[in-house]
Amino acid sequence: MRIEDDVEQILIGEGELAERIRQLGQQITEDYEEKDLIVVGILKGASLFMSDLIRKIEGKISIDFMVVSSYGNASETSGVVRIIKDLDMDITDKHILLVEDIIDTGLTLAYLKEYLCNRKAASVRICTLLDKPCRRSKPVEVEYIGFEVPDEFIIGYGIDYAEKYRNLPYIASLKRSVYEK
Ligand code: PRP
Ligand code: MN
Ligand code: MG
Repeated sequence: MRIEDDVEQILIGEGELAERIRQLGQQITEDYEEKDLIVVGILKGASLFMSDLIRKIEGKISIDFMVVSSYGNASETSGVVRIIKDLDMDITDKHILLVEDIIDTGLTLAYLKEYLCNRKAASVRICTLLDKPCRRSKPVEVEYIGFEVPDEFIIGYGIDYAEKYRNLPYIASLKRSVYEK
């Protein structure tokens, strides 16, 4: 069976993603001019967005990655954020921009933001490609948002269902029959 057969609908196409990411990169470039910025991608979901976004940020930034997991193989969050890989860099007095693929309950980012603030970063901001505000259970301030998405099962462009579909080049909704069987 082809991967496309599990796609319900394409919500955000490749061209639209590229254009919005270009705008976000420009905004971030202006906001962090002359500042020591570390852009931190949250793996695995943010991997595709991160690599496209940083190419649209001008200036001498650094990058780092964290691996965290709140869902595992389940489709619902467990509420427990596990740090599987922490930052390599010392972030004292550095400006941190956390890059995420999607904010759902807000648990992952609320946890990470507090965790990094406690490590004496100069500032911690969040850039997410997608926001699903109707699912929020933990309030978290988000400075950069690519798109708002409806309460559907989202896949593609880094976002998985049971570790599959991350390689789709667009954002799509998943067919009900796939996650209800
Ligand atoms: C997903 C997604 C976000 C988080 C959002 O990651 O990539 O990181 O959940 O959910 P929340 O707002 O309810 O915390 P996941 O834990 O599935 O790991 P992954 O990025 O490796 O898929
Ligand atoms: Mn994730
Ligand atoms: Mg996941």
